[in-house]
Amino acid sequence: MNVPNHIAIILDGNGRWAKKRGMPRGYGHVKGCENLETICEVAKDLGVKYLTVYAFSTENWKRSKEEVDGLMRLFRSYLKKCLKIAKKNDMCVRVIGDYSAFDADIRESIEKLQEFSKDFKTLHFQIALNYGSRDEILRAVNRLLRDEKDGKITGKVTEEMFSSYLDTAGLPDPDLMIRTSGELRLSNYLLWQMAYTEFYFTPVPWPDFDREELIRAIEKYNERDRRYGGVKEGEACSKQD
Ligand code: IPE
Ligand code: IPE
Ligand code: MG
Repeated sequence: MNVPNHIAIILDGNGRWAKKRGMPRGYGHVKGCENLETICEVAKDLGVKYLTVYAFSTENWKRSKEEVDGLMRLFRSYLKKCLKIAKKNDMCVRVIGDYSAFDADIRESIEKLQEFSKDFKTLHFQIALNYGSRDEILRAVNRLLRDEKDGKITGKVTEEMFSSYLDTAGLPDPDLMIRTSGELRLSNYLLWQMAYTEFYFTPVPWPDFDREELIRAIEKYNERDRRYGGVKEGEACSKQD
């Protein structure tokens, strides 16, 4: 099995999973957070090098205060717990998104975790927090403009240069994007980075997305005929054909 180098996940369906069980949405988030730990371990075992998960979007502030507060409490405890998980999995953790919007203690936890795990190498784990692709692109453009004004950039902006201004600077583009729980949209996730990514959508809600489900997604990915605008060797036809 050809394991994707970089998997990006939109972990969706926590709320519906909880509702189905007559529980509050927050319970779904707690279970979803526990599942994150499982999937990191599975990804590492399977040999995935990069895993990027969407945990809180720039749009998610629109949810009720109760739900947002609950999510912040969950991030607080998870970010602390993640120090141990990072060590256990030899996992380098990086937050993408504008985390300056979070409370000071959360920002500190993020920085501590990033610093603590920066030399771990087996798995590169990115958590998208207060992340939105449009916001990321605009922040990149504004930094580019500043650098241009300061004389740090001369000449044309290339794709490579632009990528280096994004939160994902230095990371390879995702090979496979998985969205759980049935919605067929990107919800402002990695729009630039996923120009050539294969998409896999499953009705399974995030708290139930386990080892078998991840393997199923990778198997489906293996059936894809990946192309980048060209044709495969041996398929190219000459004019006479
Ligand atoms: C995903 O689950 C987690 C976050 C967006 C924080 P949802 O909370 O979106 O769950 P559903 O989609 O409402 O079921
Ligand atoms: C996308 O899920 C964001 C995260 C998973 C963090 P949402 O549940 O917020 O997306 P929409 O609102 O259904 O598009
Ligand atoms: Mg959702």
